[in-house]
Amino acid sequence: MRKKSTISSIKKSKGSQALVMITAYDALFASLLSDSADMILVGDSLNMSFAGKSDTISATLEQMIYHTNAVCAGAPNSFVVCDMPFGTYTDEEKALINSIKVFQETKADCVKIEGGADKAHIVKHLTSNAIAVCGHIGLLPQSVRSEGGYMVKGKTADEKTALIEDAKAIEAAGAFCMVIEGVKADVAKSIAESVSIPVIGIGAGVDVDGQVLVFSDMLGLFEEFTPKFVKKYMDGASLVRNAVQKYADEVQQREFPSEIHTY
Ligand code: KIV
Repeated sequence: MRKKSTISSIKKSKGSQALVMITAYDALFASLLSDSADMILVGDSLNMSFAGKSDTISATLEQMIYHTNAVCAGAPNSFVVCDMPFGTYTDEEKALINSIKVFQETKADCVKIEGGADKAHIVKHLTSNAIAVCGHIGLLPQSVRSEGGYMVKGKTADEKTALIEDAKAIEAAGAFCMVIEGVKADVAKSIAESVSIPVIGIGAGVDVDGQVLVFSDMLGLFEEFTPKFVKKYMDGASLVRNAVQKYADEVQQREFPSEIHTY
């Protein structure tokens, strides 16, 4: 069994070993992924790939707590990150009350919040109250409606400067690592080099300190759309469909259950 990551082992990995983060939303998949991942992220992306919504905005704290509990139960030896959903960290006190609820009602090891320099005061308030925080900068899925879409960041010199400031502000506020999403690869590299905590990329190229993918994307289970940065490590959707069709055919032809599946 893999040794559970800790805040200190994650921080120490910078400059040596690339960190592996994968999302999971339930106990079954969490247990299947746990041996290969340094961290399991219970992402609010579950609102799309699990709950069938078109974005992450309507995910609730109760939903995140329910799924985090399932993941912690399925992967008791994994370092688990609980994503704070939209609207749950709009000010310092609200963020603290909601993060305490996550810590008290689940075994999550940290929370993740979206935002850069503008959210640094919230990260600071959480970390100074014993809540470990993973930051999330660059493309922020919770801003999809206010920005009018999913926009790749780091395309101009000003955006690069702002992103580096975001990363430094989150680090100074006490975050132990951060996710960087949808950022030009050369800019992501500069960001990773400008902070001393691990920067975990998604759609941010290879020159960062680790990678995260949504499990249903990487297993080819989610078919609605496939962003450029997603690599499908298997064609999960076809495998599932073919298996279920074979079962249906065998039921209809009275081939299942055969003798070996019969008492
Ligand atoms: O919600 C999520 O799965 C995430 C990843 C895209 C990093 O935040």
